[in-house]
Amino acid sequence: MVSGVLILSGGVTWCQAQPAVAARPPAPNYDEAQMPAYTLPPALGAAKKAADWPGRRAELYALLEREMFGRMGGKLATTVYEPTSGPVPALGGTAIRKEVSILFTGKKDGPRMNLLIYLPPNVKGPVPVFLGLNFQGNHTVSQDPAVKAVTAKARGAQESRWVVEHVLKRGYATITAHYEDLDPDFDDGFQNGVQPLFYKPGQTRPAADEWGAIGAWAWGLSRAMDYIETDKTLDAKRVVLHGHSRIGKAALWAGASDPRFAIVISNDSGAGGAALSKRIYGETVADLNTRFPHWFAKNYAQYNGQEERMPFDQHMLIALVAPRPLYACSAQEDQWADPKGEFLSLVAADPVYKLLGKPGLPSHEFPPLHTPIMGTLGYHIRAGKHDVTEYDWQRWMDFADKHFGPK
Ligand code: GCU
Repeated sequence: MVSGVLILSGGVTWCQAQPAVAARPPAPNYDEAQMPAYTLPPALGAAKKAADWPGRRAELYALLEREMFGRMGGKLATTVYEPTSGPVPALGGTAIRKEVSILFTGKKDGPRMNLLIYLPPNVKGPVPVFLGLNFQGNHTVSQDPAVKAVTAKARGAQESRWVVEHVLKRGYATITAHYEDLDPDFDDGFQNGVQPLFYKPGQTRPAADEWGAIGAWAWGLSRAMDYIETDKTLDAKRVVLHGHSRIGKAALWAGASDPRFAIVISNDSGAGGAALSKRIYGETVADLNTRFPHWFAKNYAQYNGQEERMPFDQHMLIALVAPRPLYACSAQEDQWADPKGEFLSLVAADPVYKLLGKPGLPSHEFPPLHTPIMGTLGYHIRAGKHDVTEYDWQRWMDFADKHFGPK
């Protein structure tokens, strides 16, 4: 996906600035018996009743923002929405397609995010929405010949990860944009992407507590939400935010940052996403920061090889979405993402949901394959590799149906 050389050279530069960090992370650990013992800081802290949560929540948000994801920009007053196609029948009559460009500076030749919107045909009222960024360009999510190709990837190359017709059949709209509209996924010292739109005079890169690429992707999801709020065919109160892998990390951060997202779904988001970092299993903090030095705030690299020093962990990211429903899923062969660590994050966030009067996670036992558990928090693990499959989508839609009720 991204040139390893670019990532690596950026990583080495960063690592040299950090104390007590090996030049290369050690081989990944996949043996629970080798895992050092760890203690999680409780998500609830001193909060004893629901009224205590807003204060504790603000503290946790500030902590994750400063130490991990970085402060992001706000909504730009210059933004203009430009319809670029549709609404027209598409996908053999199974969909209505429209495209809208979000022009961040109001200029056609400035930075933009191109939204591809498929609606079920013949819908009357505002439709609930699945919103997520794609890895390879809008033309890769379906065979639709009218969608402009923005990368060299084949039309429909990611079709099996989007199952558009299945989503429409279940009465949801599906909206996507290419994640690199917001920030190309390589380390260029933050010259491209949306961060420079927010630089102060003389600033050339984000400060140590400011956003990297994941923050930019999360910011873009909120900008898509701004658009959804203006479109009467879409139900802005029923938007399900989803993301796979690195985009799953961004979806969790967007869900934590923006309460307008009604439901948040993390698919194989792993380290830096749903998986606990203090469990030294699969990908580590040093792996993240050395291989992808442009993803997080620079402050995060201080924890390379020192997870035990972290005053936070990923269960707090989950807790920041409370009391809204959140569903995480894993794949059995994706041990790099630590499926059990993803589940244990939900377990450790559960007391926050309970404090807020929600059912939370129905079971604290790691479930067998293909046995979804669904409360306010939900989880499944399926057979197979790091991927998004129709099985995952059908469970996401079951989860959304459960929480949204009849359409
Ligand atoms: C790499 C990376 C993961 C990430 C994944 C992806 O495997 O180490 O953290 O989630 O890429 O985005 O596909």
